[in-house]
Amino acid sequence: MKTHIRKAEPNAKNMSDWVKKLFIERSDLFLKFLDLRWPRTEELVNGMTKILGNYGISSGSLLDLCCGNGRVSIHMAMKGFKTVGVDISKPFLENARTKAEQHGVSDRTTFLQGDVRKLKKVVWNVSEPFDVVVNVWTSIGYTSKDDDLNIFEQARELSRQGAILFIAETMHAEYLSVKFTPTSYTELDNILMLEDRKYDPTTSNLSTSWIFYNKRGQNLRFLDRVDFENHIYSLSELSSLLRKARWETIASYGNLSTLQPMSPLTSLNIVAKAQ
Ligand SMILES: C[S@@+](CC[C@H](N)C(=O)[O-])C[C@H]1O[C@@H](n2cnc3c(N)ncnc32)[C@H](O)[C@@H]1O
Repeated sequence: MKTHIRKAEPNAKNMSDWVKKLFIERSDLFLKFLDLRWPRTEELVNGMTKILGNYGISSGSLLDLCCGNGRVSIHMAMKGFKTVGVDISKPFLENARTKAEQHGVSDRTTFLQGDVRKLKKVVWNVSEPFDVVVNVWTSIGYTSKDDDLNIFEQARELSRQGAILFIAETMHAEYLSVKFTPTSYTELDNILMLEDRKYDPTTSNLSTSWIFYNKRGQNLRFLDRVDFENHIYSLSELSSLLRKARWETIASYGNLSTLQPMSPLTSLNIVAKAQ
């Protein structure tokens, strides 16, 4: 596969303010939360490769939509796949390239900066169709359903017939209908992140405020706040959107490594096949 790094600078005007703030301006804060998921990525890709094996795919090329710090791309490259990760955040991609080097897979990973809504422009120089596409950790529903449809249509055009798409570790409407938690917090090093959520079941839109504090002993010092709203799909809604984009859902799981069935209490993991 021939790849070439070209900067498709994201158009700041068309990008949601919260995407810009959380993933670019405060990438220093969010990167800590991406890194928190690194240790559990091996288990995830073990599940993915096992499923891929059932469809006769044991190597090939993989497209990672919204790749963040590259955790999935890098682990899949360690399994022998040639990966292309796309993300809007330059700091995350710089981190991903460093990690790829540390793990000895720089030659099998390409990280491209750009907006997945303009996917074909971002990966314009990848000459072979993809065998696998992944979208992990609720990396959909950020702008509009039309945008999501468009992203998966472009991913389909860039993939071969029979390619496999994973949408993994994703929040879903069934979960929020039984286990909506209005507030929670996560502590990480000296950072405390408070999450405040409001869910509208009529639109399935989730409004979240992430408020970051610096912890000093017993004292908390306000660092920053990001407010955002995203659409949370149900399994059937997402499957029907994928079908329109010529990806047919063939299985859904609560966990890609244990293959436990999806339920309202698990995350959403979809396996779809390019038609
Ligand atoms: C929740 S993180 C998930 C990252 C990664 N998939 C993972 O599982 O660790 C969402 C990612 O989407 C990226 N992102 C958000 N909007 C984007 C867009 N329009 N185009 C490309 N990347 C985008 C962010 O920069 C961030 O890295």
